[in-house]
Amino acid sequence: MSEHKPRKTSEPKPPRSTGWVAEFSNEHALLEAARKVRDSGYTKTDAFTPFPVHGIDEALGIKPTILPFIVLCAGTTGLLTALLMQWWMNGVDYKYIISGKPFGITPASIPVSFELTILFSAFTSVLGMLALNGLPRLSNPIFTNPRFDRATDDRFFLYVDAGDRYYNRESVKELLSSAHPESLDEVMEDPSPTTLPRPIWLGSLLLVLAGLIPAMIVLNMRAGFSDLPRWHVFFDMDFQPKKKPQQTTTIFADGRTMRPQVEGTIARGQLTEQDPFYLGWDPSKVTLAEVRNPILVSTQDPAAQDPAPAQDPAPAADSPKSEVVVETKPADAATEQKPADPVAVPPAQTAAAPAAGAVPNLPWIDRLPIAADEEHMKLGRTKYEIYCSTCHGYSGFGDGLVAQRAASLLQDTWTPPSSLHLDRVQKQPVGQIFHTISKGQGKMASYASSLTPKERWAIVLYVKALQRSRNATIEDVPVEDRSKLSEAK
Ligand code: HEC
Repeated sequence: MSEHKPRKTSEPKPPRSTGWVAEFSNEHALLEAARKVRDSGYTKTDAFTPFPVHGIDEALGIKPTILPFIVLCAGTTGLLTALLMQWWMNGVDYKYIISGKPFGITPASIPVSFELTILFSAFTSVLGMLALNGLPRLSNPIFTNPRFDRATDDRFFLYVDAGDRYYNRESVKELLSSAHPESLDEVMEDPSPTTLPRPIWLGSLLLVLAGLIPAMIVLNMRAGFSDLPRWHVFFDMDFQPKKKPQQTTTIFADGRTMRPQVEGTIARGQLTEQDPFYLGWDPSKVTLAEVRNPILVSTQDPAAQDPAPAQDPAPAADSPKSEVVVETKPADAATEQKPADPVAVPPAQTAAAPAAGAVPNLPWIDRLPIAADEEHMKLGRTKYEIYCSTCHGYSGFGDGLVAQRAASLLQDTWTPPSSLHLDRVQKQPVGQIFHTISKGQGKMASYASSLTPKERWAIVLYVKALQRSRNATIEDVPVEDRSKLSEAK
């Protein structure tokens, strides 16, 4: 290779000596020699042995490595990075309640913190070890000594480097020979060329180019567009002779694969259709016919200033039906007209789902069936913040994160969540709000599967408290505390 570089063609330099290496037949001789060399003040030394020799680091005067300290620093950095990251993300930048957990650093932050601590430490251990040892080192001048091959077999070598502060060629030679080595050789610089042979270069280049191919394919797929079905490398169980929800079938006359429950089916322990606690309204006050075909009442209160612009006026609003409000029957009449069928089917299953903006007019109960105490208020708040605040906002103005995001997308398919402080919603009996949570209302889904009836009532209690908090009068302040209000001004 040297002929390509004209400067090197002149006078090949005589190989330079890099130190002395002494060969010993056992570890005791090596240890003794190493101590001698150490005591004479040499520090740039090394020993090569076929197996680990106890005490060799002490005999060579090697100081303990600072790697553990570096790893400790890296681990601490990892821990702090993880804590800072999670505190910032969850406590500052994007406050979002997940499963009712508090913001910022919580016990749930432990796994990530642990992982980052380990990650930073592990990388620092490996890279730090390589760096401190000056690795990777592809060649060492000592390899030019043919005797050195036995270092992996049955011989022990002690090396003193010419770069040592006190190095003197003659005195090192004398010192090593005084330890009676098997052999003593001067280590000469490796004269072989240091540039990589051309085939290796080409081969590596080809490998790197081949390594880019998968990345190019992925890039192409991310940027491009194709209407072909995706590649099926692994079929797994993707194609099976079975029906999935929403598919059609020829087995049943109605063509649906999803079968409705046999009418009147009741799961064990779920015979609750007669209980106002599970309904929000009193079934003893209406006839079965009224339950099955409830009269829909518009929810649009003309007096209410509904700020939601996308809320279309409900079609039911101007139909004559909506103006009819079913009067709650007197109690004596109700006893005669009580549904004969003990299993009244809940309205949502029989009646067509209420049109947007219309609710069935049912004899709502207007007293909470649970105590309005602190325990239920706390429960209601927790559940409200988990299930409702995403849309209705923490204070109930309909400005939750989901609503904000949806509004920013400017898509006209979105129905904004109602403000719970609308006059219309404020006037609703507790039973109706319970019904809204249980059965859904308009575009809002049912939460009956996620919340027990007790939790739903607790949410109703909390919603009522939220409403009250926005419309408090001086009457709501205990008499003895009223003077404090004027003081605060
Ligand atoms: C995914 C968003 C979303 C969530 C979560 C949500 N709602 Fe709603 N809510 C809506 C929308 C949208 C409406 C308006 C429905 C319509 O008119 O079509 C609404 C309407 C309401 C109304 C007014 C109903 C009426 O008579 O007009 C009440 C009360 C209500 N929600 C309570 C709750 C409660 C309590 C929760 C928690 C259990 C909750 N919502 C969770 C979106 C949501």
